[in-house]
Order: sequence, then structure tokens, then C-alpha cells
Amino acid sequence: MITLPGLIDTHVHLREPGATQKEDFETGTKAAIAGGYTCILDMPNNPEPTITPGALEKKMTLTQSVILNSFQDPQHKMPKQVRHDNMSSRIYCDVGFHFGATSKSTQYFKQVKGKVFGLKVYMNHTTGTLLIEDKIILKDIFVRWPQDKVLMVHAEGPTLKKAIDLAGQFGNKLHVCHVSQASELSLIRQAKQDNLSITCEVTCHHLFLTENDQKTLGSFGIMRPPLATKTDQEALWTGITDGTVDTIASDHAPHTKEEKANTPPPNGVPGLETTLPLLLTAISEGRLTVDKLIQLTNTNPRKIFNIPQQFDSVVEVDPTRNYTLDARRLFTKCAWTPFEGKKVTGKIKRVVLNGKVVCKDGEVLNPPQGKVIYPTK
Ligand code: NCD
Ligand code: ZN
Repeated sequence: MITLPGLIDTHVHLREPGATQKEDFETGTKAAIAGGYTCILDMPNNPEPTITPGALEKKMTLTQSVILNSFQDPQHKMPKQVRHDNMSSRIYCDVGFHFGATSKSTQYFKQVKGKVFGLKVYMNHTTGTLLIEDKIILKDIFVRWPQDKVLMVHAEGPTLKKAIDLAGQFGNKLHVCHVSQASELSLIRQAKQDNLSITCEVTCHHLFLTENDQKTLGSFGIMRPPLATKTDQEALWTGITDGTVDTIASDHAPHTKEEKANTPPPNGVPGLETTLPLLLTAISEGRLTVDKLIQLTNTNPRKIFNIPQQFDSVVEVDPTRNYTLDARRLFTKCAWTPFEGKKVTGKIKRVVLNGKVVCKDGEVLNPPQGKVIYPTK
């Protein structure tokens, strides 16, 4: 048995409010806990995006549900009074939020900076409406977001150069999401050598799948950035070994099977429940060490995003146990995985959150123990 600190995922799309046919706070955080994550950060690209203090507040409120207490009136059969004073958590793990960048959301940066972990800037097209290509707006965003807080970019290929130049010019703390190409990694390696404040993340779909798998997976292998070549994939593994890659995130981006069957299909794949088993498999194959896994999924994300310490929150895994990934055992509402049928080595036995066992042998225990978290600075 190996005991790991509860994993942190800084790139999750929980979809509530607005797209709860794909996922909601309950199902998404249940999937997180089942996957060994005790803390996740939610992205802002909902149909009603997290781009105002009100939208942020609404998400936070939705993580709780009101317990309706009814009192029987002895004279009448019907409940007389309903009280709304009891709140209970709907989230199974701790959840924090990111804010979205638009030309207008800049006015709220000061107001939300203590409540959110990072700002997400979508410089390429993906799910949602947050794409920004206008140079003047981009500059305004980079200038106005606090320099000591993470500015995350979705910037693929040549767009990444623009993001790095902007961050270099305005002194931002840049975090590059889902790096997938060798050329992107070279740019990041160079920027690190130039002493820019830059970190980056990779996902398991780019680490374990290539464009060849996309052919077999069809629309279920479509995501942004797209699956890349074998050479790109090898570069990501090299980036992990040489320290260029700072974090591994799931980019859990669920869409229903019906939605994925549309032409064109929406971009994104789920990942919360397959990431740790895949990484444990890499450990069993000698491609990753336990220390490196902890660094990429706990220590580095905590440091980069100023995530509060979680006490007595661990994942116990059996590193030798073989099993097959099977969508029928998943908690994500979308109920599919691009890794269906893959044989993995390493099974999650128990997850403990704040001293309480919250998952045992594949069963997520009630009631939910998660809370909304805020950055330490
Ligand atoms: C994400 C989604 O569906 O929200 N899709 C994806 O393909 N990764 C958005 C994103 O992170 O680009
Ligand atoms: Zn994403």
C-alpha cells in the first residue's frame, strides 16, 4: 500500500450552472473523490461564465443545498412551517474557483482576487464564449490582473508565443494549460531559462493517447488541444523528467454521449477518475516515480495557485493491483471515458478528507464533506 497526499486538480470543468446535463457539483466532485482528488479548481467557461462577482457567488452558493425543515402542526395534517436555516454541502471534495477574462470582466479583478485562484484567458477557440483574440483587450487583461496571481492561458502552438511575450512584457505569473506539442514545451523551457515567471500543465490524454488513437475513438477522442503525434507525446514525458512540466491536470471536460455524437462534436473528455490509475500504471512501468507524482499533483499545484493546506487528507493505493478501466464504474455524469478497456496497474483503496474516510473500495460515502476554499494569498 502507498499513501499519497490527496491529489489536487487545478483544471476541472464542473459545468454547474448551465450545463448540468454533462456534470454538476455533486457528480463531478464524487468523480473527483473516487479518482483520489481531495481538492479541485473549477474553470469559468460555463454557459453563464464566471466573469462577474455575481456569477462567482452563484457558483459558491450552488455548492450548498438548503435543508427544508418542516414542522407538523398538531391541528392540521399538512406541514405548517418550513425553515430554511440549515445548509448542507453538495460537494464531496474541496472546491475552489477560477475567474474568466473578458473585455468587461477586468473591472472586477480587484474585487474577486481574494476569492479566486487564477484568471483563465482563452486565446484559442474551445467550449464556451470566452475567446479573446483582440490584441488591445489581451494587453488590458494582462496589465490589470494582479502580477502575483496566476494568469492561466489556453494558448496553442503559435498563440503561446504571444502569451509568453505579453507575460514577459507585463510581469505576469503565467501558467500554460494543457501543453500538448513539443514546440510549445521548447518555448516554455526557453522562457524558464530567461527567468520568466512561467509554469505549465499537461493532461493524461496527451500523455497516454496520440492522434492515432483519435482515429479509433472518433468524436470521443476530440478535445482542445487535439491529440498530437508520438514525437509530441514523448516530448511531454521528457518535460516531466527534466522539470519543464510543473503539474498534471485532468482537464476534466465532460459532454454527454449524445452531444459527442453531433457533428461537429463538442471538444473535451472526462478525466477525473482515470488520471491517478494511469499515472500509477506509469509508475509500475518505471516511467514515473512516486515522488514525481506527488510533486506534479500536489506540491507544485499548491505552491503555484496558493492552495490552502489540507490536513489529514490522503489517498491510499494498492500499486500492484491490476484492473480494467470501465465506464460503468465511473461517477461522472457523462458515463464514458476515452480510456475504456485500458488495463491499468494501481487501484485506489481509500480516500481520507480532513480525517474522515470519504471513499472506500470504489464507494463514495455520504454525506458530502467538501467545502469551498479560498487562496492563501
Ligand atoms: C474544455 C471544455 O469542454 O470546457 N474542452 C476541451 O476540449 N479541453 C475547454 C478547454 O479546456 O479547452
Ligand atoms: Zn479545460
